[in-house]
Amino acid sequence: MLLTGRTAVISGAASKRGIGRATAELFAEHGARVAVLDLDAEAAQEAAAALPKVGHGEHIGVRCDVADRASCEAASVATIGAFGAINILINNAGITQPVKTLDITGKDWERIVSVNMTGVLHLSQAFIPNMRDNGGGSIACMSSVSAQRGGGIFGGPHYSAAKAGVLGLAKAMAREFGPVGIRVNSVTPGLIQTDITGDKLTPEMRVDILKGIPLNRLGEARDVANIYLFLASDLSAYVTGAVLDVNGGMLIH
Ligand SMILES: NC(=O)c1ccc[n+]([C@@H]2O[C@H](COP(=O)([O-])OP(=O)(O)OC[C@H]3O[C@@H](n4cnc5c(N)ncnc54)[C@H](O)[C@@H]3O)[C@@H](O)[C@H]2O)c1
Repeated sequence: MLLTGRTAVISGAASKRGIGRATAELFAEHGARVAVLDLDAEAAQEAAAALPKVGHGEHIGVRCDVADRASCEAASVATIGAFGAINILINNAGITQPVKTLDITGKDWERIVSVNMTGVLHLSQAFIPNMRDNGGGSIACMSSVSAQRGGGIFGGPHYSAAKAGVLGLAKAMAREFGPVGIRVNSVTPGLIQTDITGDKLTPEMRVDILKGIPLNRLGEARDVANIYLFLASDLSAYVTGAVLDVNGGMLIH
């Protein structure tokens, strides 16, 4: 049990096969009280209700659109009202879109960047004051191997740009908030089997991608949840501003 008595907020944690949901389950198994934040209030509440019980109170599900600053502030008020001190924030929510540079519309750019990158800023701004005033905490931010290798897996260039922006933002926050005990790190997964790709990942694409993965399998949501657990727990007490690859060796650098 690595998170006994801790409180954790996880964005994008309602979707059934998603990384956020797997992380919420793993954190609850390790004793954390979890706030599931997601676009749909009912789905978030259902996900929270299905988590393993912990000793220090109920899990909660809260509506939050990370692209909307006011929605993040409202979610933080609700979560802090229920939990008091927040120890862990997982900036996990994200969306993708497989398009090429010349096909990216202004609306596409705005949508992809605002959810994947600006959302990390919004939610961090909403929870950092609470963490700072309660002696610190751990923030983990979702980037992607697409940020490091210039896409080429599934998401378009706007997705790569947004996920690369997350790395810079997380490192800058790590530097700024280290002195008050808040660690900030990022994860860069390769292709993980969730529903984010919808029906756009064809069997042929899958075979092609597998050829480039030394560990010879696609990732599972739990593979990433395990790394979030490491970053959330005291096992990583001296780690901040780091980027952890979870890609089966797809990118070795
Ligand atoms: N699956 C992969 O191969 C892969 C690889 C690298 C990075 N990622 C990243 O991992 C994260 C989780 O993705 P996943 O694969 O579990 O997909 P998923 O679609 O299962 O989960 C994404 C979750 O984010 C939620 N969400 C979407 N927009 C939101 C918003 N504006 N506000 C709040 N919540 C929102 C969705 O409702 C969903 O629950 C994303 O940031 C994604 O970009 C995924």
